[in-house]
Amino acid sequence: MFKLGIITASDKGSRGEREDKSGQLIKDIMWANGYEVSVWKILPDERELISKELIDMSDNLKLDLILTTGGTGFSPRDWTPEATLDVLDRQAPGISEAMRYYSLQITPKAMLSRSVSGIRGETLIINLPGSPKAVKENLEFILPALRHGLEILKGLTGECGGE
Ligand code: MTE
Repeated sequence: MFKLGIITASDKGSRGEREDKSGQLIKDIMWANGYEVSVWKILPDERELISKELIDMSDNLKLDLILTTGGTGFSPRDWTPEATLDVLDRQAPGISEAMRYYSLQITPKAMLSRSVSGIRGETLIINLPGSPKAVKENLEFILPALRHGLEILKGLTGECGGE
């Protein structure tokens, strides 16, 4: 089982003023797909706090995958992509491009997501948008390829199997 960390970036969520429906949804979807949810944190939209948590989950907890939700849009408090870029060793732009490509067929507003994806050490980090609807749509689209990416990252396979 791959070990998963979830970070919800939400000022209101971190103050307990809003239920973290998106974090819960990520947990449910990933659990149903065979991932072990090791940590789930709700943080305010603070670039440094998010970066620090990403570093802790990658370097100390050695999680295989971190999914963030929220803070990818245009609001003055949306800094999740920058916090992620601050800690990535290698970018994996195809994942975020794929999410925008797929999501644009659902809503033109998908172009407003500034999501980034990439690798720190042996941990894959992916930004998802904030709403439960967007989380579900994006996650279900990337899930099939995600497992293969993680298997390669962890050295469990070197083969792409001709697909
Ligand atoms: N992607 C999908 N699949 N479905 C959506 O409804 N919403 C968009 C976009 N991506 C959406 C989506 C909207 S309205 C915004 S503003 C951006 O994600 C950024 O969301 P965030 O600020 O909550 O991270």
